[in-house]
Amino acid sequence: MVEFRIAVLPGDGVGPEVIAEGVKVLQRLEALTGAVFHLEHGLVGGAAMDEVGTPLPRETLELVRRSDAILFGAVGGPKWDNPLASHRPEDAILGLRKALGLFANLRPVKVFPSLLNSSSLKPAVLQGVDILMVRELTGGLYFARPKKRWRTARGRRGVDTLRYTEREIERVLRVGFELARRRRKRLTSVDKANVLESSRLWREIAVELSAQYPDVALEHALVDSCAMALVRTPSRFDVLVMENMFGDILTDEAAVLAGSLGMLPSASLAGLPPLEDARGRRALGLYEPIHGSAPDIAGQGKANPIATILSVAMMLRYSLGLPQAALAVEDAVERVLAGGCRTRDIAEEGAGEVLTTAEMGHRIVEAIAI
Ligand code: IPM
Ligand code: MN
Repeated sequence: MVEFRIAVLPGDGVGPEVIAEGVKVLQRLEALTGAVFHLEHGLVGGAAMDEVGTPLPRETLELVRRSDAILFGAVGGPKWDNPLASHRPEDAILGLRKALGLFANLRPVKVFPSLLNSSSLKPAVLQGVDILMVRELTGGLYFARPKKRWRTARGRRGVDTLRYTEREIERVLRVGFELARRRRKRLTSVDKANVLESSRLWREIAVELSAQYPDVALEHALVDSCAMALVRTPSRFDVLVMENMFGDILTDEAAVLAGSLGMLPSASLAGLPPLEDARGRRALGLYEPIHGSAPDIAGQGKANPIATILSVAMMLRYSLGLPQAALAVEDAVERVLAGGCRTRDIAEEGAGEVLTTAEMGHRIVEAIAI
């Protein structure tokens, strides 16, 4: 019998609603496969600030450290949006990424054939889109120091620092090359090498590494023109790899291809998936929908649980070593969408059946076949 410990961190806004559906999927898989998932819930984000006064309590850090994988909902909301506060809900997810060394963020963007008409882009542009975006997640503008605000005689100032070490760049580029090797063997390294020193270093290291990956076609793209190409000719991309901030922006843009932010899952990993680490364990991973807490629709059953359910599939594949179960979940999502089921965000006017969060989760759970 295989047993896993999974930390479940629902967080704020729509987090608890979508996580509830992800949990149903895991429970269904227990029944179908005999695997045992020990789920332990923890406090995170604004919910944790309200309960215990801090966004990432020590208990939660201890919980994730003894887990095989983390299922994360979302954090943040207007209630905690005070620019002068010393804590923010977002500190929780940033703190988890940093504390666990989750430097590689995988965000697949796949267009389901039945959702070709859900995007604001033309179906012909979306045909065959299957992209894997790899975002560096523990460096760059998000974390490097100095990072502060201060007053001077000539007014207020603020600074963030874009700094990368060779090691940080190399390890995430390597994830990009390895994943490209297992796919269509094309890697686009995104940078701003015409302006930024850190990007020139990034590009240099990409070229050096490419000697070890002769089977992967490496191209470089400047982030601004890449932003345009992503919506103009998205089907020409396979794997893209980029620094933290560029990745934050380009992955939200790429969500338009999939029809909705509510469709995009993610995995944040501490190593190359699904290789084992030194202790023979698989790469620790945090799995979360990329859509965030969406406070405007929280508690109304309007959120799309598919991003979370697809994140569970990534967890099965990368952290738990259950690729068949992962495929079964992805297949169930595809069939439920092909059958016309929609949540509000992906519904076309007058077509298909508009379901609540829980109804969509239920349909997908019912469709899982192993
Ligand atoms: C994301 C989110 C986070 C980020 C926020 C919530 C800190 O936008 O995961 O893309 O900027 O990384
Ligand atoms: Mn983001």
